Amino acid sequence: MTSIPDLSRNRFPVRRMDFDFAETKQYWFNNDAGLTHFMTALSALFPVGERFFVDSVRAVRKNPKIADNVDLQAQISAFIGQEAMHSKEHHALNMHASEFGYKDIEWMEAFTATVLSARKILTPFAPIEMIDLAATCALEHFTALLAEQVLNNPKFQSMMAGDPVMLKLWLWHCVEETEHKAVAYDVYKNIYGTDKGSAYVLRIVGILMATTLILGTQSYFTARLLQKDGKLAPKYWLKVANTFYGINGLFIKAIPHFLDYFKPSFHPNDHNTIRLLSDWKRNLSLSEYKPS
Ligand SMILES: [Fe+2]
Ligand SMILES: [Fe+2]
Repeated sequence: MTSIPDLSRNRFPVRRMDFDFAETKQYWFNNDAGLTHFMTALSALFPVGERFFVDSVRAVRKNPKIADNVDLQAQISAFIGQEAMHSKEHHALNMHASEFGYKDIEWMEAFTATVLSARKILTPFAPIEMIDLAATCALEHFTALLAEQVLNNPKFQSMMAGDPVMLKLWLWHCVEETEHKAVAYDVYKNIYGTDKGSAYVLRIVGILMATTLILGTQSYFTARLLQKDGKLAPKYWLKVANTFYGINGLFIKAIPHFLDYFKPSFHPNDHNTIRLLSDWKRNLSLSEYKPS
């Protein structure tokens, strides 16, 4: 049995990135409209979504239960820095995509805030800071398990290989989601607990709502982008379905990992990704944390 490493002192850096999409073609993902739009639709969620993660963790970081936790506070600072950088770079990607005539993308970014406001229906049951953090934990679980799928899937990577800038952006984001996957969860765990009572119920409601809303919104965005091209035909959806939802698709393979979240004792670090991370950081020449 593999032992679970203690990552309480886990440190990771904020990496300043500035991707240049000048060479990125309209259908950069495997020369396919449906798959490219699927990724753009995902990216359209990120600028507002990542800011929401930052705000929800920042809102509680001075809570007395974690205010003096030096390790966790350092991780929170790095988490905020990483998510802010993801927000910035995905907005740049989205604006590049909009140059091909997809003017809806700015509307999609803004619409993400409307979708996130659905969480407010839970305010009669819990304080808004707790709801926001539960939503962030759920969405961080969702992104971390997809990131791990991407990092472990050479076929998926090869479909992006025609555009080295895009390949690096998505892999960099996947690495950092894996690096900081436990931060929001540890904040929630320390302040509210995670395994029983309303704290457990809220994180389960959170993952169910987050999954439904993210998949629904992202599919809707993909459809709008395909519609703009006059390519709503089944053949484009079939490729999307095969790549993401088919037997070997990214989402289907992630289901067991997704379900782990329902265990009262769940913790993101139960899933050991240390080796995967170190291999990819070396591979992508990404900097390591250096104590100042
Ligand atoms: Fe992120
Ligand atoms: Fe994240």
